Amino acid sequence: MSVTRFGKVAVLMGGWSSERAVSLNSGSAVLQALLRRGVDAHGIDVGPGVARQLSEGDYQRAFVMLHGRGGEDGVIQGVLESLGIPYTGSGVLGSALSMDKVKSKQIWQAAGLPALPFELLLEESNPASVVERLGLPLAVKPAREGSSIGISKVTQPAQLLPAWREAARYDTQVLVEPWLDGGEYTAAILGDEELPLIRIEAAGEFYDYHAKYQAQDTCYYCPSGLPVERERELRQIALRAFRAVGAAGWGRVDFLLDEQGKAWLVENNTLPGMTDHSLVPMAAQAAGIGFDDLVVRILAESLEYRSREEMHVVQAR
Ligand SMILES: Nc1ncnc2c1ncn2[C@@H]1O[C@H](COP(=O)(O)OP(=O)(O)O)[C@@H](O)[C@H]1O
Ligand SMILES: [Mg+2]
Repeated sequence: MSVTRFGKVAVLMGGWSSERAVSLNSGSAVLQALLRRGVDAHGIDVGPGVARQLSEGDYQRAFVMLHGRGGEDGVIQGVLESLGIPYTGSGVLGSALSMDKVKSKQIWQAAGLPALPFELLLEESNPASVVERLGLPLAVKPAREGSSIGISKVTQPAQLLPAWREAARYDTQVLVEPWLDGGEYTAAILGDEELPLIRIEAAGEFYDYHAKYQAQDTCYYCPSGLPVERERELRQIALRAFRAVGAAGWGRVDFLLDEQGKAWLVENNTLPGMTDHSLVPMAAQAAGIGFDDLVVRILAESLEYRSREEMHVVQAR
């Protein structure tokens, strides 16, 4: 395929979310890959003037590489829709639902998929009742954040309110879930396929911001080490979960296992990290797809964006 088909491409990065720094790294890596492939790509650090920049710059396509609020939640996707500019990844609905850990889990529950149980946590929630229902330890997190920002592990009822306060710094909605210790897996999705699972083993308590982007001692296993049948089963659940929330193009579904080895869906990421050390590139590599090829394939998905969105509508009927 000739890269001239893509036209002038804007790589949208940066933005104003708490994951701005991560997005600038992912965006630069994507931009460099597109330039190496001869695509007419230009980086845009997204701010309030982005709509004008996009229309005045005569862009034919956007590679969205923003993380978090304003970029991963349907907001920039809505801007692109109204400008009539095709873009990579999920549309408005798939982005908004995936960003919201409460809404996406409600959809998975309704679809009969194994969403990790949760409750909304309020400032006035009674810690003893929450612990009675969900047990200990617990995970407390903002509903719409990323990069593990605002997440706490709670081992005693008295820690619940401070954990709520920490999460509430980032979102008006806070959720609480049982803390699972049986292992962490993630499934990257590219187009209509799932890539090999990755097992993640953080050195500290969990896969926090430091373990994600700074630590040298986080271990990633790809192949995951799961028996073939089990791997296939989790990959299929991931793909169904991805489609259930209306996600498209590419993304990454996170799982946690409980002590009995049962897998629970934690979240779907519609705009996962894309530096060459990130998880999606790692899974792609295991499937024989190098970083530059991966970036071009994600961009090529945007050529079929409309028809795919329509296909999801048909599938949902
Ligand atoms: N219920 C839980 N039990 C155990 N660990 C958890 C739980 N929820 C989150 N974590 C840990 O926190 C990390 C980030 O949580 P996640 O819900 O995926 O939010 P984010 O959008 O910030 O990635 C996970 O990768 C995992 O290591
Ligand atoms: Mg996650």
